[in-house]
Amino acid sequence: MTRPIQISPSVLAADAARMGEEVAALAAGGADIVHWDVMDGVFVPNITFGPHVVEACRPITDLPFEAHLMVQDACAFADRWVDAGCSRLIVHPEAEVHLHRTLGHIRSLGASAAVVLNPSTPAIAIRHVLDLVDLVLVMTVNPGFGGQSYLPTMEPKIAEIRAMIDDAGLGDQIDLEVDGGVGADTIEAATRAGANVFVAGSAVFNHPDGVAAAITELRELATAAAG
Ligand code: DX5
Ligand code: ZN
Repeated sequence: MTRPIQISPSVLAADAARMGEEVAALAAGGADIVHWDVMDGVFVPNITFGPHVVEACRPITDLPFEAHLMVQDACAFADRWVDAGCSRLIVHPEAEVHLHRTLGHIRSLGASAAVVLNPSTPAIAIRHVLDLVDLVLVMTVNPGFGGQSYLPTMEPKIAEIRAMIDDAGLGDQIDLEVDGGVGADTIEAATRAGANVFVAGSAVFNHPDGVAAAITELRELATAAAG
């Protein structure tokens, strides 16, 4: 059994000068999760925000916050993100020498642990940590920037991980998320490949009818495609 469809807008595409209002608009617009793209200028060639920004927005909504940590050595600052109010930390195996230990550490902090794969990282990278995660994220762009084009070549990997999760009997426990270039023109294919949680930045914040309309549209398309 696959878990429910969820929409997780990325505030990377929000107006940073009005971050609190943007988070409030997501909550009012029906988002399921708020996705925070954290970049350190080392693992990816871009820098975003620190935990104080998340902490400042935490009182605005009860929605879960997930931190996508595009940083070298996520383990070192995991407690800071949890203290700031993130209930899920998503880490890259490409940036962690001791991924298994990092995931266990995140769980020991009382948060959900999740793992995210760059486009070139094979599905097998998560095979031996499935017992430690609540979510697997497949990047459908190279991380570092919003507004890039969705890579349909990742769909076989999404399908492979979906099969891995289901074969392990964990379909009702582990979400499969996609991130990068997800919008009205790509979400159905990602759903058919096996994803059930969708990060969207540009497609939500640049929608001509506003964030609520964007979230509704994405949810309807994914729900229909999931059959
Ligand atoms: C890329 C980030 C994504 C991205 C999503 O490094 O992880 O979350 O900002 O933005 P769009 O939906 O514009 O590709
Ligand atoms: Zn992200």
